[in-house]
Amino acid sequence: MTEKSKEIVKATAPVVKKHGEAITTAMYKILFERYPETKELFKDAPEDQYRKLANAIYAYAANIDKLENLSKGIEQMALIHVEKKVKPEHYPLVGEALLDAMKEVLGDAATEEVLEAWKEAYFFLADVLIAREAELYQQQSNA
Ligand code: HEM
Repeated sequence: MTEKSKEIVKATAPVVKKHGEAITTAMYKILFERYPETKELFKDAPEDQYRKLANAIYAYAANIDKLENLSKGIEQMALIHVEKKVKPEHYPLVGEALLDAMKEVLGDAATEEVLEAWKEAYFFLADVLIAREAELYQQQSNA
């Protein structure tokens, strides 16, 4: 991730926090409309799943230059994703839905530059999760 993107993500963290739940609510709506096959993964999800995701996104944005603060949260996410059988190919679908939701909710505040920075940040975190989840799937298959 470029330093510039980190700066932009950090600078926009407060506005994303303020609108976090609206963004993640819109995100799930877009995700399930465009990719109905993802709905099944969330069938046992708590009603406040969108809130958990909003909190995770904000914590990530606020800690983008000190990711070691997030290692416990990342491990927890990876464990639950593996339990629910989330796969690498799901990440671009969620990324697309998240960025479109940000555009929808933030309006003019979501400039091209802001969206590009968040896209980089999303896929950076996605790669960390995908790598950890691959290890966990591997361990499962060796067990
Ligand atoms: C960078 C991207 C992502 C982040 C930050 C993220 C974050 C989270 C968080 C914070 C939780 C809740 C963990 C807990 O309950 O303690 C969660 C659960 C979950 N996530 Fe993700 N996630 C991401 C990508 C994805 C993708 C790509 C999918 C697949 C479409 C997905 C599907 C799920 C499911 C099914 C659950 C469990 C819901 C349940 O409790 O039943 N996530 N995720």
